Amino acid sequence: MTFPSAVSVASERSEDRDGEAVAVAYPNIALVKYWGKRDETLFLPVTGSLSMTLDIFPTTTSVRLIDGPADTVELNDAAATGTALARVEKFLDLVRAKAGRTDRAAVVTANAGPTGAGLASSASGFAALATAAAAAYGLDLDGRALSRLARRGSGSASRSIFGGFVVWHAGDGDGEAGDLSSYAEPIGGDELDPALVVAVVEAGAKAVSSRVAMRQTTETSPFYRPWAESSVLDLAEMRKAVARQDLPAIGEIAERNALGMHATMLTARPAIRYLSPHSLAILDAVLALRADGIVAYATIDAGPNVKVLCTRADAPLVAATIEGLGEFVTTRTAHIGPGARLTTGGDGE
Ligand code: PMV
Repeated sequence: MTFPSAVSVASERSEDRDGEAVAVAYPNIALVKYWGKRDETLFLPVTGSLSMTLDIFPTTTSVRLIDGPADTVELNDAAATGTALARVEKFLDLVRAKAGRTDRAAVVTANAGPTGAGLASSASGFAALATAAAAAYGLDLDGRALSRLARRGSGSASRSIFGGFVVWHAGDGDGEAGDLSSYAEPIGGDELDPALVVAVVEAGAKAVSSRVAMRQTTETSPFYRPWAESSVLDLAEMRKAVARQDLPAIGEIAERNALGMHATMLTARPAIRYLSPHSLAILDAVLALRADGIVAYATIDAGPNVKVLCTRADAPLVAATIEGLGEFVTTRTAHIGPGARLTTGGDGE
């Protein structure tokens, strides 16, 4: 299964949609995690990462240039305030600086999935915002440039510019050299067509943002460096596993990489713990499925929700097993999804 790159569409349409644009982007779940920045301003990661873009929980974002004195941001039908508003304004400042324009914008964005719950809403959110804002401000960016731009809103957003399996390069060096070399790109392998059963145990926003948790972990956990070093090796192995379409190997690397990332958080000072008893119950169920011969492996981001990688054929059984644990969990099954793109009608999907 292959999807057209977002970018050719974005650059084709950017001119005729100058002044107003609507984009849709999907979340991605990292199988080798991004956890830690080497440059907080440029969003340069300590290590490279690899993800799968999903086909559920899209974000639809419109950006319209206005005459007013300030940007306005509407998130899920309510006016954004505080940090959420500040992050979008800062991102728009970056786009304005690149475009050499000063117009403010009215941004309207909606997530089809839970927001701020460790289900990659910031990845789909900033990928959609980068795509729509670049078009509205008349920037003609190719995929790499769009990915670098999205990275400045949320690191993981750099990967949601593309569909399928995507690698985000850590890049070399600092400053401009780092900025130019740290981008995401698709790596193929989509024919594998796996499923990701998303087990939602908490749809509310998390108490500690991934940004804060990441900083606290890199600065204080004695386990951070060892994890980062092993993650570099995980990424190299993961790329080979994706290339040979080896789902058990992909799953094994993904699970150990994610649990290692959580180990760095648990050993931060003070500790950060996103895993809940419900997360652990699902991890136990995944172990039991594997003991029964099912290829099922878990990954967990900055939140208690668990995503289980398995074959498309096994997904109903995996989902039923997890739902059978109790009413505390609901599941949605995702498959490989497309990259960010501008939409035609101007009203999203
Ligand atoms: O891009 P952020 O700031 O939302 O951080 C994402 C961090 C993880 O989801 C935990 C890992 C990843 O690679 O997506």
